[in-house]
Parts: sequence; C-alpha cells; structure tokens
Amino acid sequence: MSTKPILYISRHAHFNAAHKLFNSNFDEKWNDETFGPCANKNWHGHNFELIVTVKGSPNPDTGFVMDLKVLSKIIKEEVTEVLDHKNLNLDVPALKDVLPSIEHIVIFIWGQIKVHLPEGVELHKIHLRETNNNFVEYYG
Ligand code: NI
Repeated sequence: MSTKPILYISRHAHFNAAHKLFNSNFDEKWNDETFGPCANKNWHGHNFELIVTVKGSPNPDTGFVMDLKVLSKIIKEEVTEVLDHKNLNLDVPALKDVLPSIEHIVIFIWGQIKVHLPEGVELHKIHLRETNNNFVEYYG
C-alpha cells in the first residue's frame, strides 16, 4: 500500500490593529497589575505578523497541496480585511465580548480560515506574532 506524502505549506500576511486588555469585572489596580501597559485606557497598537499553515498531499495535476493564491485570498478576505486598521475591542463584532488578547485573536482567525479551505486541505497551524518577543501558535 502506498502512502501519499503529507506536506505543510504556509502563507505569511500582516495587519495593524489597536486594542486594550482590560477586564471590567476587576478594578483598575488588578488590571494594571495583570496587563501592565496593555491596560492603557487610550489603546495601543501592534503590527501583527500572521503565518497560516495548511496540510495535505500534492495534487497530481498541479503539484500543489493548495494554490497559495487561493490561500492568500482567503486570508485577505476573512482576516486582514476584517482586522486591519481596526480597534479590536470595538470594531470587530465577533471579538466584542472577548478580551482581545493574542490568544483570542488567534482562535478567531482559525475559525475564519478553516471553513473556507478547499476539500482535502486541512488547517494545521495559525502563528500570530504580536511583538518581536511575543507570539502564539494554535493547532485548533
Ligand atoms: Ni497589546
């Protein structure tokens, strides 16, 4: 029995967005201690770097696991056009009731992309980098 090779291919994108981390169930002191400068009332922004990795076997007709132009279009329409230059606390309905931490943003991005992938291609990982030092990886 021959096994098809499984490959992982990735596409990079970026977006800029503002947010603040503040949990109104707690007082200002708790928020300052917990979130530090991210609790700043007057917002702050990040240049987010996103890497979407999908998994599958090369199509014998194209040699592609997935056409990266198609993946790029999905990321643009479902993620960057939704989040870029937005205030994540106020402008994105799906994030309105959650604290827009990088963890919650990455879970949101997973849901946006997964449902739009073509047959036979699986979402493997979402990598989201908020600063040079801080990033999250989500495997669903
Ligand atoms: Ni932040």
